[in-house]
Amino acid sequence: MTKPRVVLGVGGGIAAYKACEVLRGLTESGHDVRVVPTEAALNFVGAATFEALSGHPVHTGVFTEVPEVQHVRVGKEADLVLVVPATADLLARAAHGLADDLLTNTLLTARCPVAFFPAMHTEMWEHPATRDNVALLRSRGVVVAEPDAGRLTGKDTGKGRLADPREIVDLARLLLAEPAALPRDLSGRKVVISAGGTREPLDPVRYLGNRSSGKQGYALARVAAQRGAEVTLVAAHTVTLPDPAGTTVEHVSTAEELRVAMHRAAADADVVVMAAAVADFRPDSPAGHKIKKSDDQPDPVVTLVRNADILAELVQNKRSGQIIVGFAAETGDERGSVLDHARTKLKRKGCDLLVVNAVGEGRAFETEDNAGWLLSEFFADGTERPIPFGSKSQLAAAMWDAVADLTEH
Ligand code: CTP
Repeated sequence: MTKPRVVLGVGGGIAAYKACEVLRGLTESGHDVRVVPTEAALNFVGAATFEALSGHPVHTGVFTEVPEVQHVRVGKEADLVLVVPATADLLARAAHGLADDLLTNTLLTARCPVAFFPAMHTEMWEHPATRDNVALLRSRGVVVAEPDAGRLTGKDTGKGRLADPREIVDLARLLLAEPAALPRDLSGRKVVISAGGTREPLDPVRYLGNRSSGKQGYALARVAAQRGAEVTLVAAHTVTLPDPAGTTVEHVSTAEELRVAMHRAAADADVVVMAAAVADFRPDSPAGHKIKKSDDQPDPVVTLVRNADILAELVQNKRSGQIIVGFAAETGDERGSVLDHARTKLKRKGCDLLVVNAVGEGRAFETEDNAGWLLSEFFADGTERPIPFGSKSQLAAAMWDAVADLTEH
């Protein structure tokens, strides 16, 4: 199999050094990457670094390798063009079709998906000229990703920070698998997503927890933000994951904390997604001190009490027009198949959409890939849709497609 071909355009901003990590992430996951920096980018990272990491020569202008017409060939041969970082100047040149170096020529000749990952000062990102250029590019189907908020060059903070390189690699792989995965169809919509696994304390050092990594919830948030939504992510004990660019992340620990955070955020949300693994039970009375073993005392017995079913409560308090999505990780057993259990759960929970993960065979918990079904009583084309085997971001894109369909009906 030939490797997917990615052109990595690099703009002249300080975040150019992070393009090296994106390059590394792509080559290590089996992509053939050709780096095309602007002349300005080479002030930040030398061509030798890009050549060594990509294994290809690096040029900025159109007057090298002239017989091979590389200003046309590089773009035409690509399966994906990424621009990391996209400066305000580069977005302007791309929006207006200028072609004064190899990168802008490549952008004009590419017939594959093109995605810009902006990085600039907040003032430049918010300037009407940049806003118009971004809108123009997006209206042509080009992906202009949301930048992150946070520390910028120097002492200032604000919107305009480059998205985390791991996130860029993940979105690049999503676009290679599903070129139409990032429409701006959630613009102006508020969504709240829970992720991770809750922990119920037994004593100050021990807890009852579960194996959820939070990766699926983070992928849902990442994809929603890039589809234009205003995203609140309520995260309970995820593995170390970068905060998805353009989202507000609230960290919680117990089921009760997650419940409070979800009800608060759901009050004005258009879509609510319960992807977190919530403990159904908690220790009745957690010890205020570390529980010790003792030879002259009986071993402790832990009594569990029920936690609230947050999804059921959210369904009960549902605003008109709100869409509520539940998740279910199921296995088949002697009483029925994965789908039988999922159909029963959809009815019991009363949510609008249920995302069903088939557990086992290397899927769902702590893995990168997922498979399952989307179940809803409200699909125009029947009530069950299989989710093809793919990454958690692919599942996220399929889920947001389904939410868009539900909104339309
Ligand atoms: N959920 C919830 N509150 C709980 C437990 C689960 O909101 N106390 C949500 C999960 O976030 C998920 C959905 O309910 O979206 C289904 O979770 P699951 O654990 O499969 O459901 P249960 O009702 O606990 O069913 P089961 O008896 O199969 O464990």
